[in-house]
Amino acid sequence: MLTVEMPAGAQVDALLRSRRSARVFGPGTPPEEMIREALEDAVHVPNHRRTEPWRFVVARGEALGRLADRAGALKIRPGGGDEGRTAAERTRQELRTAAYALAVVQKEAPDPEIREEDYASCILAALQVGLALWARGVALRWSSGGVTRDPEVRTLLGLRQEERLAILCYLGYAASMPAHAAPRPAAERTVWLA
Ligand SMILES: Cc1cc2nc3c(=O)[nH]c(=O)nc-3n(C[C@H](O)[C@H](O)[C@H](O)COP(=O)(O)O)c2cc1C
Repeated sequence: MLTVEMPAGAQVDALLRSRRSARVFGPGTPPEEMIREALEDAVHVPNHRRTEPWRFVVARGEALGRLADRAGALKIRPGGGDEGRTAAERTRQELRTAAYALAVVQKEAPDPEIREEDYASCILAALQVGLALWARGVALRWSSGGVTRDPEVRTLLGLRQEERLAILCYLGYAASMPAHAAPRPAAERTVWLA
């Protein structure tokens, strides 16, 4: 946690550089008010044409359990055998440790260019929620891919036909943080033109 006194800019840098995704969550439920505040932060992300393409669905309790069960079941492939079933059960149990699931739902514009911009803004909104919560000791587990297109998940979340599940995030107090190497410095990948 950031307890030492630092200039605001350095404090923000430290927050951004410390952010990590969780897989498994420990005990405790972040207060609903904290989630509401983070969502109020989310709607301030840059959003080309000010379309405000998002809405948010927060699942907890049994609704979260149903999502975790379905996300686990999606790991089972026909003919996948015991390995698939074990992975499914592990995912189900891991997701059930979360305190909430947060769906960022995008209203799909007919224009493909606007759709792409809107998707980018929805992911920025998820990141903004994640950073606001990270500053308060709460971590996110991101979930994209097949789960976002699954009809059953769509029904569980109450999605309308013209909506896309941009990203599903699970939230809670992380039990541990998976280790991974620090990214290569941006300086190694930056070209300055003059
Ligand atoms: C758009 C997006 C989609 C992601 N989808 C998944 C996912 O489906 N499953 C997953 O385990 N992590 C997912 N992640 C999280 C990344 O895997 C994670 O950020 C990466 O491993 C780096 O770890 P870190 O966030 O701890 O730095 C996603 C992240 C983003 C931004």
